[in-house]
Amino acid sequence: MADPEVGRFTGSVHSSGAEPELWTPEELTTIYGDWMTASDRIVWVILDNDNGTVVGEAVLNRLDQDNLRCGFRLWISGATNRGLGTEAVRLSMGHAFAIGLHRVELDVYDFNTRARHIYEKLGFVLEGTKRQALRFDDEWVDCHVMGLLASEWRG
Ligand SMILES: CC(C)(COP(=O)(O)OP(=O)(O)OC[C@H]1O[C@@H](n2cnc3c(N)ncnc32)[C@H](O)[C@@H]1OP(=O)(O)O)[C@@H](O)C(=O)NCCC(=O)NCCS
Repeated sequence: MADPEVGRFTGSVHSSGAEPELWTPEELTTIYGDWMTASDRIVWVILDNDNGTVVGEAVLNRLDQDNLRCGFRLWISGATNRGLGTEAVRLSMGHAFAIGLHRVELDVYDFNTRARHIYEKLGFVLEGTKRQALRFDDEWVDCHVMGLLASEWRG
């Protein structure tokens, strides 16, 4: 989570030189402990099978049970461009629609062309744009809203 690329593309930091907020092991234990039992989300770690290292997480969150929809977020560090992100999205969406959800939605910043490429490749549709929603290095960055319906999921 200290990876500058993760900080930039998740909107956690606002300049290239900024130090991301780091959680202590105790804070992480509390946060992930709470998430383990939370009813509005499922959090998966992404493991690099080559060496068993945790390299990221994929999260179905903000469950809206009445409308059968939820959000999604994802990050990978130190193991990008090896297909793990694509596989994580595919597995997460497979699970979301297998448990009966109707819709998954996410936010992605305009400058995150890699993530946008993956989401589009897997069927997410651009639904709108929050203009100049992020300030990074004193420039304004748009934030796109993308959604995927169960009927559009190709597996
Ligand atoms: C976005 C992220 C999850 C992608 O995971 P990944 O494991 O690196 O991605 P993959 O290896 O599965 O796929 C990369 C794809 O993007 C393409 N790609 C790589 N860099 C790219 C770029 N700068 N612009 C567009 N496409 C790009 C690759 O060619 C590949 O496409 P292909 O499979 O069609 O050939 C990961 O890079 C990441 O966590 N980044 C930082 C945090 C982040 O952006 N999170 C998402 C917030 S919405």
